[in-house]
Amino acid sequence: MNQKQATDLENPLIAKDQWLIEPKLRFLNHGSFGACPIEVLEHQSHLRAQMESSLVRYNLCELPKAIEQAKQSLTNILGCATQDFCFVSNASEGVMTVLNSIDWKAGDEVIISQDSYPACRHMLTHLSLKHDLVIKVAQTPFGVLANESFQEWNARVVQAFADLCTSNTRLLLIDHITSPTALIYPVKDLITLAKKWNALSLVDGAHAPGQLALDLTSLQADFYVGNTHKWLLTPKSCAVLYVSPKWQNKIFPLVLSHGYLAESEQRFQALFSWTGTRDYTPMIAIPKTIAWLNKHGGLDHIRQRNNTLCAQARQLLTQALWHDEASQKTLALPPIQSIAHMAAIPLPQDLANFPLHKLNHPSPSSSASASRIHPLQQALWALDYEVPIIETAHGTLLRISAQAYNSLDEYQALAHTLLELRNTL
Ligand SMILES: Cc1ncc(COP(=O)(O)O)c(C=O)c1O
Repeated sequence: MNQKQATDLENPLIAKDQWLIEPKLRFLNHGSFGACPIEVLEHQSHLRAQMESSLVRYNLCELPKAIEQAKQSLTNILGCATQDFCFVSNASEGVMTVLNSIDWKAGDEVIISQDSYPACRHMLTHLSLKHDLVIKVAQTPFGVLANESFQEWNARVVQAFADLCTSNTRLLLIDHITSPTALIYPVKDLITLAKKWNALSLVDGAHAPGQLALDLTSLQADFYVGNTHKWLLTPKSCAVLYVSPKWQNKIFPLVLSHGYLAESEQRFQALFSWTGTRDYTPMIAIPKTIAWLNKHGGLDHIRQRNNTLCAQARQLLTQALWHDEASQKTLALPPIQSIAHMAAIPLPQDLANFPLHKLNHPSPSSSASASRIHPLQQALWALDYEVPIIETAHGTLLRISAQAYNSLDEYQALAHTLLELRNTL
């Protein structure tokens, strides 16, 4: 791939028909559940068929080798050795695994960001009731202050955590990229802060593998969790859990199996590589996924172009939604360096308050999660846009994602549609 192709934003970098995404759908939400290419899904089906054709031999002989190969293929992307990480099904499982392995004492304090992932907060609430923990919520920032530099904004993120640290602080749960606000946090500095207070650091990097260049060994977190099924495009149910060598003897999967009997030096790997009979094909499809990425220019090229596309999309949507000078004065965006393939854009008040009665086709499902979907998101669904609208402490945000199947015209169309919807109010 040449430079021109890598920065061509007018066309998808990789044709959308390489995915199962509905052709008419403007899919601007890779962040929520990823999207796996058809070729990788077909390979996964082939792996499943192989397993089913000779179940015992496959599970006992082929699978351990395949898992090892899958781990080997990830070492450059994660920046750590195979013995320092294991597979889990998803980031939620990874975070819960760590939280469940800590020998909590009553009064232990945990610090999280106000923009941390809600499900991780629920895990902490659950454990706090059991172990009498104190959960402290850092008032992490969104937009920059007037004349604030990127470094100063980063320092404010760290300060929000530092303000809450005490000698009882046991754990900092640090998002690498936040979910509702799509911000890259200065994880290295936050890990240093945790060490200063003799606290553990658990980095929730659910969105990081495939989106950010990682070097987990030098990052020196105690624990790091990352999904491969989001930005690395693997099949669903695949995430990694890095554990610092000093904790590998203290961490246990949520499901214990035969590995429990392994010698202590091998136990971490033995416990996590087999947690009972299940479908391990998402993990063992990783080498094929990486080969597919390489065939399409490689991860670095794809990442570079996704970053550029996301930055431009943020700019054009911001200009469209906040076009007059008076409204621009009230708008504070996060520093451009704090975003990668996702960006959150504050919605003006009228769109943020988009009324339910404007919907021609209310949400098709009456489930609790569907009923929480913002009316504007539902209106956009009806117009074939997939883009989340999220209520946060910083206001109502439109969160866009940029992946190789996206092109700039999709965000232009979204901007146009949002203005049309606004005109109906
Ligand atoms: C920051 C963060 N943590 C954890 C998760 C949970 O990921 P999963 O659903 O793969 O467990 C997400 C999902 O989007 C997330 O954004």
